[in-house]
Amino acid sequence: MLQSVFHLNNGCDIPSIGLGTWNAKGSFVEEAVEYACKIGYRHIDCASIYGNEKEIGVAFRNIFSTKMNRRNDFFITSKLWNNCHRFDDVIKSCKKTLSDLNLEYLDLYLIHWAIAFVPGNDNEPLDTEGFAQIDKTPVQETWRAMEELVRLGLVKSIGVANFNTQSLLDLLTHCNIPPTVNQIELHPYNTQVELLQFMSKLKIHTTGYSPLGTPGKLKADSPVLLNDPVLINIAKKYKKTPAQILINWEISRGSSVIPKSINKKRLEENLWSLDFELTAEDIVMLTNLNKNHRFVNPVGWWKVPYFC
Ligand code: A2P
Repeated sequence: MLQSVFHLNNGCDIPSIGLGTWNAKGSFVEEAVEYACKIGYRHIDCASIYGNEKEIGVAFRNIFSTKMNRRNDFFITSKLWNNCHRFDDVIKSCKKTLSDLNLEYLDLYLIHWAIAFVPGNDNEPLDTEGFAQIDKTPVQETWRAMEELVRLGLVKSIGVANFNTQSLLDLLTHCNIPPTVNQIELHPYNTQVELLQFMSKLKIHTTGYSPLGTPGKLKADSPVLLNDPVLINIAKKYKKTPAQILINWEISRGSSVIPKSINKKRLEENLWSLDFELTAEDIVMLTNLNKNHRFVNPVGWWKVPYFC
């Protein structure tokens, strides 16, 4: 049986499996979150840019209106968008998320990307050549505001997403509260072994997104992780599904994981991925599938070669 929670560097626990909500819209996400919480998910991963926090808020209102569900038994994450990195915008943005989600506090609030866009109504402000319009807000200012959210009691833990080694090292030179989590793309085609080792040394927990290889958002030339023959063979051996093997592999490596689904059967399948242990050889076989392939790369959206 694998770990059902991981300890963060501030004493809080993060459940090892969470529900991802990127690309889950409208009543689908509302129903999925309610069903997920009913069957035992205790970690829901949100973000303002996903455009669905109001619908998720309806689900939370229903969930927490019954005495059976106590807010402090759940772990809820959200993320600060790139055009809200200025101090006052961080505070405003977090309060808006709390109001949309119908919550009084977040368990975890993350800086979504290590890049600041010019503030305004446009979430992805581009210049005439299609390049993102970068704001001069230093990450020091943004992190000060994140720390203020903790002081105000609006957020229990703060962290980052999509930070590489340089961004983490820079943050560690000036933070008063160290980041608890870095949420990054993780799966056997993008194993990020060195970054994981380094973060473990720094006592920063990793949450892996796109653990199934984003099968619903594939480009024509993308590899299909769930169809990988090595993965399929391992799944047959354990009498599990490929998705369950991927989730188990990631937790075995010490990361929490947030597969997205709006389908009841797949929500159940993904949650029931902890009741077996992969052998060390099978973990290595999956890790050896690495091809440094990213399913999520903002160079196509903002012409920012973010991962170079
Ligand atoms: P759906 O929401 O219809 O279940 P990732 O978390 O890697 O981004 O993957 C999310 C995608 O994977 C969604 O398109 C989701 O579709 C699909 N998915 C979720 N769980 C499973 C599963 N157990 N098997 C196959 N596909 C899944």
